[in-house]
Amino acid sequence: MSSTSDPGADLPEHVRRNREYWNREAAWYVEAGRRNWAAAEPRWGVFGVPEADLHVLPADVEGKDVVELGCGTAYISAWLARRGARPVGIDNSPEQLATARILQAEFGLTFPLHLGNAETTPFADSSFDLAISEYGASIWCDPCKWISEAARILRPGGELVYLVNGTIWMLAIPDGEDEPPPTDRLLRPYFGMHRFEWPGDFGVEFHVGYGDMIRLLRSSGFEVEDLIEVRPPAGATTGYAYHSVDWSRRWPAEEIWKARKVR
Ligand SMILES: C[S@@+](CC[C@H](N)C(=O)[O-])C[C@H]1O[C@@H](n2cnc3c(N)ncnc32)[C@H](O)[C@@H]1O
Repeated sequence: MSSTSDPGADLPEHVRRNREYWNREAAWYVEAGRRNWAAAEPRWGVFGVPEADLHVLPADVEGKDVVELGCGTAYISAWLARRGARPVGIDNSPEQLATARILQAEFGLTFPLHLGNAETTPFADSSFDLAISEYGASIWCDPCKWISEAARILRPGGELVYLVNGTIWMLAIPDGEDEPPPTDRLLRPYFGMHRFEWPGDFGVEFHVGYGDMIRLLRSSGFEVEDLIEVRPPAGATTGYAYHSVDWSRRWPAEEIWKARKVR
């Protein structure tokens, strides 16, 4: 522990910067968090695809111990709690967790929330049946660290499910503080992709290519069970300027990985 009063002083550089970034952003996510907490059925990604169409979650989560890595406002944990699971959320941003606590009180549903870095969690080995992340640890943590940490805290046979930006999408979005939509050109190299920073202060993200992701999962003890390439449903719209329905009908803007801990 640092001798200074800053509890973030000992964090790795990208984790400290992402904490600052998400503390600044948190206020913008309160209403979206509230809408998602209120949703009767889980919906996934920027196009809000219903769970019934994608089958992201295990069919039965009743009694399962679940950890949400980078839970933010923790609506996924709320959805899982309503299905009978025992969720625990961990997030790096005190401000995001403050929103999660407000929503817990509003909706009368509580579960443990931890402030911490999903790359090095405080949880015991083999404590969860399901680890899940939607644009949380899955893009803000270094996969070389958070995937092996997820393997450590999952029980044998446990499932890892995470949603990330599409790999091609990551290569097709222009730099720009106004967050322009993706182009039909590959603007940066695929080989070597790992750490991403955008002009302006958007924090630090991590995205790796398919081969690297599969090797990382397998060397951490997982078998890949599915890679769901999310497609906009009929009539889809999006309020996100950096997404485009037309583009996403041609290429995957979002991907959901599903893996199982086999050793
Ligand atoms: C886009 S939000 C996604 C969370 C949730 N699905 C939501 O929309 O509220 C990204 C979250 O990842 C968290 N995060 C970033 N780096 C993290 C880390 N190293 N450990 C845990 N959480 C992290 C941020 O604080 C933020 O709350």
